[in-house]
Amino acid sequence: MKDNLKVLIPEEKISQRIKELAKQISEDYEGRNVHLICILKGSIVFSCDLAKRITVPVTFDFMSVSSYGNETVSSGRVRILKDLDESIQGKDVLIIEDIIDSGRTLSYLKDLLSSRAPKSLEICTLLDKPDRRETEVEVKYVGFEIPDKFVVGYGLDYNQFYRNLPYVGVIE
Ligand code: IMP
Ligand code: MG
Repeated sequence: MKDNLKVLIPEEKISQRIKELAKQISEDYEGRNVHLICILKGSIVFSCDLAKRITVPVTFDFMSVSSYGNETVSSGRVRILKDLDESIQGKDVLIIEDIIDSGRTLSYLKDLLSSRAPKSLEICTLLDKPDRRETEVEVKYVGFEIPDKFVVGYGLDYNQFYRNLPYVGVIE
């Protein structure tokens, strides 16, 4: 890979922001357990770092989804490649996502998961590109709002590469 990468959000800034998010989450879920749903693969790095900083009891589950092609884009449907292992009924569920772009993936997931009767259901995303939003979706925790640029690193990929970068960068 010989792409030219420019740092958009340095490692230290991500780590600082994750501490703040984890503190907020720990306060909001005080006295309860939080069931984190990590959306594969993009949110693995963020989920791990965030979870390590949360002080209330944490359980994990994983889900893998992929957007349908252009022909069904308007329906906002996503394909489930891997569903959750456990029921979320009666649980305080927090979906962990890497980035919200059009909002389609999360709005579909939120509808799907809320039909499974969790006690509560919220979303935490590392990155948000508000300029790109096509479907409204309520997100409780946002790490950073970023401009409409294609970013990689810290879990985000370009053709599956760069997920392991410790920072968020832009390909120039
Ligand atoms: P949405 O359904 O349009 O909100 O799509 C969100 C998904 O698109 C994310 O989970 C990412 O997998 C992918 N995505 C959106 N923007 C970027 C980007 O800038 N870099 C890498 N992946 C992205
Ligand atoms: Mg993704």
